[in-house]
Amino acid sequence: MPTLNINLPEKKYPILIKKGMLNHIGEEIKKIYKNKKIAIVTDNNVEKIYGQRIKEQLRNDFEIKMIVVEPGEKSKSISVLQNVYEELLDFEITRGDLIMAFGGGVVGDLTGFAAATLLRGIPFIQVPTSLLAQIDSSVGGKVAVNLPKGKNLVGNFYHPKAVFIDPELLKTLDNRFFCDGMAEIIKYGCIRDQNLFDDLLNYTKEELFEHLEKIIYTCCHIKKSIVERDELDTGERMLLNFGHTLGHAVEKHYRYEKYTHGEAVAIGMYHITKKGEAMGITEKGTKNFIKEILCKYDLPYEMPPMDQEEIIKTIGLDKKNKGQYMNMVLIKKIGESFIEKIHRKDIEVLI
Ligand code: GLY
Repeated sequence: MPTLNINLPEKKYPILIKKGMLNHIGEEIKKIYKNKKIAIVTDNNVEKIYGQRIKEQLRNDFEIKMIVVEPGEKSKSISVLQNVYEELLDFEITRGDLIMAFGGGVVGDLTGFAAATLLRGIPFIQVPTSLLAQIDSSVGGKVAVNLPKGKNLVGNFYHPKAVFIDPELLKTLDNRFFCDGMAEIIKYGCIRDQNLFDDLLNYTKEELFEHLEKIIYTCCHIKKSIVERDELDTGERMLLNFGHTLGHAVEKHYRYEKYTHGEAVAIGMYHITKKGEAMGITEKGTKNFIKEILCKYDLPYEMPPMDQEEIIKTIGLDKKNKGQYMNMVLIKKIGESFIEKIHRKDIEVLI
């Protein structure tokens, strides 16, 4: 089974990738967890499709409780977090038990943050069910909830005990959410891997599905290498935020209703590359490659109408900022990215 190991000074854990893994997940969990209680946090959509299957897999060996939240970004809130804490405490969870995040990025971030903070930390595992979560958010230990002022403003670095990825689960993902994840795969191509970018540009739909396990492996491998060198996001890891600074502003402006995270990141990647070209720091023609690939995967690229002042205000709260300087991620060309320090007063040039 394709396996990657995250090796950090304080924490090591495996990422296992295998089609059909959900059908023997109980066996995998028994290898890393010897107690009985497992609290599974999921959302309504995942529960409807896979709830019964996961319960059947686990109920003979474990005492389980399902905690089900509404699907969507709005569940990454303090109030939903509070409900999750209450339900975990009703289950009489202890620091010797296990929490499972069984869902997409929202469930993973919310559950991970609950696990990181309740009782000062309960072990958890990630079983990501969306493409975006399988190639990005389940790996690397970033866990968070949103505040009304912006995305992921309350969070922590708290790594799971293991990540179990079953690409078969993506078969039930609708096209919009599949493309949502494709935006982050395209991001890996843009920042680090021109071959991946070219493959994505050339694959037919059938070829893409044929190669999905390998693509997931490639993305997790890039993420693993970056996280191992910069776990706490003070340097290289910021590259993973290519397109995200403007993307987060777009998501927030439209109240997390109009654009998915991937769609907003797609807009951010194109826009910053267009600006990079205009400033002469990105190779001419790069934005057209990005536009072509985004269109191929049904992703938007044009910045929607938004007030510049509001964008600047939202960007001002970005976690990549340091004092008077903002760290913006740009690409030199496809596969080569870098961080540009920009003074707050000059930020308009990139918007
Ligand atoms: N999703 C970006 C990171 O984990 O750093």
